[in-house]
Amino acid sequence: MHCYTHTPVLLEEVLTYMIRTNGSISNTEEECVLCDATFGAGGHTAALIKELSHHNKKALFLCSDRDENSIEYFEKLHEDVKHEMKFSNVRFSDLNKILNDTNLCINGMMVDLGFSSMQIDNYKRGFSIQNNGPLLMTMGLNDENASTALNTLSIDELEKILRIYGEEPRAKALAQAIFRYRRKLSTTHDLKNIVHEVYGYKGKYCKIDPATLTFQALRIHINQELYQLMHVILAAASHIAVNGRFIVITFHGLEDIVVKAIFRSIVRDQNLSLEERIISNLNQNIFLLNAIGSQKEVEDEIMHSVQQYRDSITHKSFAVLNRGSVIKATYKEIKINRRARSAKMRILERLS
Ligand SMILES: C[S@@+](CC[C@H](N)C(=O)[O-])C[C@H]1O[C@@H](n2cnc3c(N)ncnc32)[C@H](O)[C@@H]1O
Repeated sequence: MHCYTHTPVLLEEVLTYMIRTNGSISNTEEECVLCDATFGAGGHTAALIKELSHHNKKALFLCSDRDENSIEYFEKLHEDVKHEMKFSNVRFSDLNKILNDTNLCINGMMVDLGFSSMQIDNYKRGFSIQNNGPLLMTMGLNDENASTALNTLSIDELEKILRIYGEEPRAKALAQAIFRYRRKLSTTHDLKNIVHEVYGYKGKYCKIDPATLTFQALRIHINQELYQLMHVILAAASHIAVNGRFIVITFHGLEDIVVKAIFRSIVRDQNLSLEERIISNLNQNIFLLNAIGSQKEVEDEIMHSVQQYRDSITHKSFAVLNRGSVIKATYKEIKINRRARSAKMRILERLS
């Protein structure tokens, strides 16, 4: 077992909304079904298991993560546990198939997005700006890594990625510089140095490294994070039980915008199909559809990939809990875990 640890964020809030106040669990004597689709090192799942034992409840845990390193953490946790537990090494976009096969209604499902401490702290994964490593940025089950992507993207695509996923003010200049040197880029420090050159940065004045937004943008692109996020929300809405809940924890503004747009598409009963509602809601926000490739291509892709969820979502009703007031970490938690400072939790509940 690796010695990395990951401190789970908003843990008390997860326990409250997943179990303590979850009507689909408290109103039944039956074994409940919980799903942690970002298992990581199993911090949230371990706490959920402990909480269930206080309530004398048994559960089936469906766990998944795209990172195969999570399997080791899962096996370790599973060894000591009385509950039935299953693990699938899949991306969000393949989770619906797995959940369809179980034929179960899920009482509580969660995702805690972004990367784990084990991923960022391991320089060999190539996410870290500080520790030099191969230019990879892959969470698992990827089609390409950062280095191969930089060799195939055009300058315009690169600029779009930096501008939209990184909200990088110098996207154009950076895209040109990266494009010029791309064949020579093989490590995270190669990339960082180019960004520093464009910014004329000598490493003295800023608290935050100017390469942060570039790294964020490429990571989102390589792991298709926003597209994957759409899938997991729709998979959750397709499989949660009546009164069951889906919790999502985001760490940056773009993720939160996507969550709000997809939640709105699921909840609002407009006279449009699910696909049309998603496209229209995403389009209203910062041109997410136009992020990569042509708008038409992305719309076609969404039309195609949302079809699998349409029948299982269309005739159900949902509500967003705590509408208008997103749940954030307390000052006390942020003092202990800096990662929690940008965490935002939103919850979808199935009504009927
Ligand atoms: C912040 S960590 C989760 C940590 C976990 N809650 C814990 O307490 O240990 C996020 C995890 O989500 C996984 N992940 C991110 N995007 C994913 C996707 N599209 N499909 C499946 N897993 C994903 C990452 O591999 C990572 O292990």
